[in-house]
Amino acid sequence: MPTTGVSHPLFARFYTWFSQVLDRQGMLGQREALVSGLSGRVIEVGAGNGLNFAHYPPSVVGVLAVEPEPRLRAIARHAAREARAPIEVVGGLADRLPAADGEFDAAVVSFVLCSLPDPVAGLREIRRVLAPGGRLRFLEHVRAGSTGWARAQDLLDATVWPCLTGGCHTGRDSVTAVQAAGFTVESLERFVFPARVRSPISFCVRGEARP
Ligand SMILES: C[S@@+](CC[C@H](N)C(=O)[O-])C[C@H]1O[C@@H](n2cnc3c(N)ncnc32)[C@H](O)[C@@H]1O
Repeated sequence: MPTTGVSHPLFARFYTWFSQVLDRQGMLGQREALVSGLSGRVIEVGAGNGLNFAHYPPSVVGVLAVEPEPRLRAIARHAAREARAPIEVVGGLADRLPAADGEFDAAVVSFVLCSLPDPVAGLREIRRVLAPGGRLRFLEHVRAGSTGWARAQDLLDATVWPCLTGGCHTGRDSVTAVQAAGFTVESLERFVFPARVRSPISFCVRGEARP
């Protein structure tokens, strides 16, 4: 297995705890909706600790889950054993996916485009491995619509945030990145999470796009 060069031991530990807190607060429902109705072969890019795995329906015949961070990948392998769909967890990077052209019926990313060094390059690579008629499902926190929050996001992204969070950026316009990579966005829901107490990572989107 070639090394990915991605290693964030402290963030991996923190994210494993924090992502489960968010799921208990309601993100779990968004994860269910993210993969609902998928079928055939799926590639999940940046699978983290595998919190989407339990939600893949049995109509999915196989998931290739690509995760570069070794500690998160080990946790994802445990999660894969509990899933209803067969899931293989491998190392790899979004802009060099270990997959052939047109191999997958669907691709899934959740809270990943914020962390890629070049999100458009990663999305172009995802397009490459999708079959004609395939689809991309995404769930991401994105740039806020209000000037005040967007300024706060820019400030965080230029200073401490990416160093503390494995390269995450709070203020990316990931929907525009999806379109810039050649996808057509066919459905898009914007929501604030959690609705009561906002933070720079509260402004979220869930959607589907076609190559
Ligand atoms: C915030 S976590 C999200 C994890 C998971 N998708 C989820 O929904 O909980 C961001 C993930 O992106 C992964 N990542 C970072 N850089 C990447 C890259 N270049 N290619 C693929 N994944 C990457 C990280 O290792 C991490 O697992």
